[in-house]
Amino acid sequence: MERICDLHGHFLPGMDDGCKTPEEAVQVLQCSYRQGVRRVFATPHYYPVEPVEAFLQRRTEAVQRLEAYIQSQGVQDIPQILLGAEVAYRPGLGYEENIEKLCLGNSRYLLLEMPFSRWGKAEEREVRNLGVTGGVIPILAHIERYFDYQDKRTLAGILEQDVLVQMNAEALLDPAVRRQALKLVKRGIVQLLGTDCHNMTDRAPNLDKALAFLQKKKMADAISQIIYYSEEVCGEAMG
Ligand SMILES: [Fe+2]
Repeated sequence: MERICDLHGHFLPGMDDGCKTPEEAVQVLQCSYRQGVRRVFATPHYYPVEPVEAFLQRRTEAVQRLEAYIQSQGVQDIPQILLGAEVAYRPGLGYEENIEKLCLGNSRYLLLEMPFSRWGKAEEREVRNLGVTGGVIPILAHIERYFDYQDKRTLAGILEQDVLVQMNAEALLDPAVRRQALKLVKRGIVQLLGTDCHNMTDRAPNLDKALAFLQKKKMADAISQIIYYSEEVCGEAMG
């Protein structure tokens, strides 16, 4: 359990709708650490209305402020913080000059938030283009939010490309979607779990409970796969 990293989190204060203060961010980080998580990616939302360089500058400043607070308070027992972004889909994203700078750490993995609509040929082409022109490997964020209303063939066309699929831990815990989420894991569609944590109230870190649920369902292979890909992404990010 301790090897797993959380590659989806909104805890950098002031960056987006996630944590508001360094105190809250530290609580979130300590909570993750208590669950056995030793590395976390800060993945603030990136929207294409902002130049990439300006976003990166804001992110650097946010992480420096947080680290200064951590130092000044002598905070211990928090995971190592790695940098990334949750990049909102837009047509032509694969042609974005600095796209690789939004990847998770030094890796080629890009956490991608797909549009909340029915995907078609344009989205399929765009995802392919991210790999071909952009040179990145998209990780489709929180797949459970889209699955229900997609055209099966288009979805299959996207999933058969060089992509990874992330599910929010919450999907395995929420009784309303748990059964569907479990099906996606059983079908091998999901390689990565993330928390998408935002705070310590309604969107707190919960990887431990999600993994415990998979364990209870005797899904050791799925857990191994999730840990394998988690290490893969983390390893590349730190390389
Ligand atoms: Fe997110």
